[in-house]
Amino acid sequence: MTSVVLGDVRKSFGSLDVIKGVDLTIEAGEFCVFVGPSGCGKSTLLRIISGLETSTSGKILIGGKDVTDAEPSRRGIAMVFQSYALYPHLTVAENIGFGLSLARRPKAEIAEKVKQTADILQLSHLLDRKPKALSGGQRQRVAIGRAIIRNPQVFLFDEPLSNLDASLRSQMRLELTELHAKLGATMIYVTHDQVEAMTMADKIVVLNGGKVEQVGDPMTLYNNPASPFVAGFIGSPKMNLFDGEVAAKEGCKTYGIRPEHITLSESEGKWRGTVRHIERLGADTVVFLDTQLPSLVARTDGDRPLSIGQTLFASPMQHKEHRFV
Ligand SMILES: Nc1ncnc2c1ncn2[C@@H]1O[C@H](COP(=O)(O)OP(=O)(O)OP(=O)(O)O)[C@@H](O)[C@H]1O
Ligand SMILES: [Mg+2]
Repeated sequence: MTSVVLGDVRKSFGSLDVIKGVDLTIEAGEFCVFVGPSGCGKSTLLRIISGLETSTSGKILIGGKDVTDAEPSRRGIAMVFQSYALYPHLTVAENIGFGLSLARRPKAEIAEKVKQTADILQLSHLLDRKPKALSGGQRQRVAIGRAIIRNPQVFLFDEPLSNLDASLRSQMRLELTELHAKLGATMIYVTHDQVEAMTMADKIVVLNGGKVEQVGDPMTLYNNPASPFVAGFIGSPKMNLFDGEVAAKEGCKTYGIRPEHITLSESEGKWRGTVRHIERLGADTVVFLDTQLPSLVARTDGDRPLSIGQTLFASPMQHKEHRFV
C-alpha cells in the first residue's frame, strides 16, 4: 500500500494561479475525496498527481518516492474519468484487457487477469458484449476494470459517477466503497457532490479557489467545520448562514445553524416565521420560512401537517449552533 504526499504544490496557467500551495498527506490505503465547487482546482490537482499535468512548483511523493518529474506510466497509478470512453468495437473482455494487449503480455495471462477483474466487478457474464449493449453503470465498471487490471498502487477517479442517474450513482457509491475495502488500494476521488464525499471518504479535502480549506473525516467536517465555506458545502440541505446584524447579535462574524438542528413549534420559539415553501421528501420535510433573519430552512418530520402562510416558531437546538469568529 502506498501513500501520496504533496508538498507546497502550485500550478499556474499563464498568469492564472489555479493551485495555490497545497500540502497534503494521503495515507496508504486511504479513500481520500477532493471536493469543492466547479473551478476550484480538483481535476488539476488530480492530474498533477497522475503526471498528466506538471506542477509549476512543489513536490509529489508516491510511496515515499519523489515522482515530481516522473512520467505518468512510472507512477504506479491508474485514472478513471467521468467520460469512460470505451472502445465501441471491442468486447468488454477486450476493453478490460486492452492495456495488457498493448503491452504485448501473453494471451493466457491476459485472459486470466481479465477473468479475475471481471469477477471482482461482477462483469463475468458480460465479457462478450460490446459497450453499446451495456447500461451506464456496467460501462463505468468496465472503465474501472481497465484500471484494476493494471494493479495500480493508487487509483485516481475524476467524477466517475456524474454521468449516471441517481439510483445507479448510489449503487456505484456502494460498489466503489466495497471495491476499496477488497483491494485495499489508496484511492483519490474527485467530486463536487458532497453526498459522495460524505458517504465514501475516509478523508475529505475541501478545496476552495486552489487552496485546501479543511481536511478531515466526514463527521468532523460536518460537526466542526472550520469556516463558513466548509459549513455551507458539507451537509444537505445546506447550513443556514448569516452575516451582518444577525451574526453581530450572536457575537460572531458568521452565525450558522443546520436545517436538521432547528425545532419548529406552533406556539413559541426564538424566531417567528411564516411558511413560504414546503418540500415533502418522504421521510423528511424541508420547510422554508420567512423570518426576521430573513429566511430560514428547517428540516422536520415527513408527515408533519404544514401549510403555506402558516406561522411557525423556529429555535436552534442546544450545542448545535456554529459561531465563526
Ligand atoms: N489547460 C488549462 N489552461 C488554462 N486554464 C485552465 C486549464 N485547465 C484548467 N484551467 C483552469 O483552472 C481552474 C481549475 O480547473 P479544474 O478543472 O481543476 O477545476 P475543477 O475543480 O475540476 O472544476 P469542475 O468541478 O468544474 O470539474 C479553472 O478556472 C480552469 O478554467
Ligand atoms: Mg473537474
